[in-house]
Amino acid sequence: MSVSEILDGKLTGKEVEIKGWLVNKRSSGGVQFLIIRDGTGLIQATIHKNEVAPEIFEEAKKLTQESSLTIRGSVVEDKRAPGGYEVRISELKIVHLAPGDYPLAKKEHGIDFLLNHRQLWIRSPRQMAILRIRAEVVKACRDFLDDRGFVLTDAPIFTPSAVEGTTTLFEVPYFGDKAYLTQSGQLYVEATIATFGKTYCFGPTFRAEKSKTPRHLTEFWMVEPEMAFCGFEENLKLQEEMVTYIVKTVLDKRCRELEVLKRDIKPLRKVELPFERISYTEAVEMLQKAGFQIEWGEDLGAPHERYISLQFEKPVFVHRYPAKAKAFYMQPDPENPNVVLCADLMAPEGYGEIIGGSQRIHDLKLLEQRIKEFGLPKEAYEWYLDLRRYGSVPHSGFGLGIERTVMWICKLKHIRETIPFPRTITRVYP
Ligand code: 4AD
Ligand code: MG
Repeated sequence: MSVSEILDGKLTGKEVEIKGWLVNKRSSGGVQFLIIRDGTGLIQATIHKNEVAPEIFEEAKKLTQESSLTIRGSVVEDKRAPGGYEVRISELKIVHLAPGDYPLAKKEHGIDFLLNHRQLWIRSPRQMAILRIRAEVVKACRDFLDDRGFVLTDAPIFTPSAVEGTTTLFEVPYFGDKAYLTQSGQLYVEATIATFGKTYCFGPTFRAEKSKTPRHLTEFWMVEPEMAFCGFEENLKLQEEMVTYIVKTVLDKRCRELEVLKRDIKPLRKVELPFERISYTEAVEMLQKAGFQIEWGEDLGAPHERYISLQFEKPVFVHRYPAKAKAFYMQPDPENPNVVLCADLMAPEGYGEIIGGSQRIHDLKLLEQRIKEFGLPKEAYEWYLDLRRYGSVPHSGFGLGIERTVMWICKLKHIRETIPFPRTITRVYP
């Protein structure tokens, strides 16, 4: 029996047992009002002096915030109770009495204090709502891909080489040698597509991002689908279908959580196929017209992405970036070799990039040349070059950042709330 079932109206009039934690308590005359959290939701429980044994009423008086307890009682509909239902307690047992000095008892705290107490902060209704939505987003990604025949093939975390540039690598000692924490599992799913055709990896990825911004973590989770015999267009199609599915699933299943966050869902309802598209070149023109100091050839930064994203109601693909601004493995556009067949997907409402994807170079000679041009050590990529020696095919894929996606769907100001224990340039605790 769970609080969520009570709130769904499924247990009205029934006897229930709830195991949970005390969020709040007040008393008025002969009634004590307890707000209890069981992991699925918050419920009001009342204990009436004239309805229970005197020991039970006295026991309840001892309860402190975040004490754990079990209660039994009957569910009644009550408009005055938060959520519209309450449990009339007949039995109560304290499992653990907390000391009564709960660090987060006060309503207002600075962000550093909250982050230093993240282990407790995640119990608050707002954080609960965000983390529930995160779990729903992850499940939606996996269900979407599993249902379409993608095979999950996990990529290693210790790696010999860079995927997304050498400046954000975390180096770790490795038995007298060195290794890097993975920036992306992409190169490995490029290998497993020759085993299964369509694959994906899902796991933590690491970037030693020196910038302290509201949308960068040093450890974040990415889902990375990859498809053999797949061109640029088909890749975009999968992305828009997947993002639409994720948003629809959260709207269907997590409306209660979106309400806790006071998320205006109208903009999310507009996320429909097809998404908008503009080329990088058009994006630069648009930015220049708006007064941004940007030259063709530079990568887009957060303010640029924000501006572009605000010009559209739906997510927008910015495609065909200059080859020099992007990663070494991207296939040149046959119509203009200065640009590559890549696209970043910008989420609306100013959020900017949530997906980076591209068609990959499948020609051995060209890939060797790019590795050289980017100054990468060829030895570390020999295994990857084998994929172009034995059964190379045109192929494409992308990486969707879970935290960036959750940040947008929940409309958060900072990415640190989207993951249970955030890692940033200034934080590895708790
Ligand atoms: O655009 P990125 O760097 O692309 C790749 O890593 C490709 N190898 C993926 C692929 O094609 N398989 O990163 C992909 C996404 C970004 O769009 C963003 O959502 C997220 O990963 N991301 C970050 N999220 C949080 N903090 C960071 N420091 C991030 N860096 C990238
Ligand atoms: Mg990117």
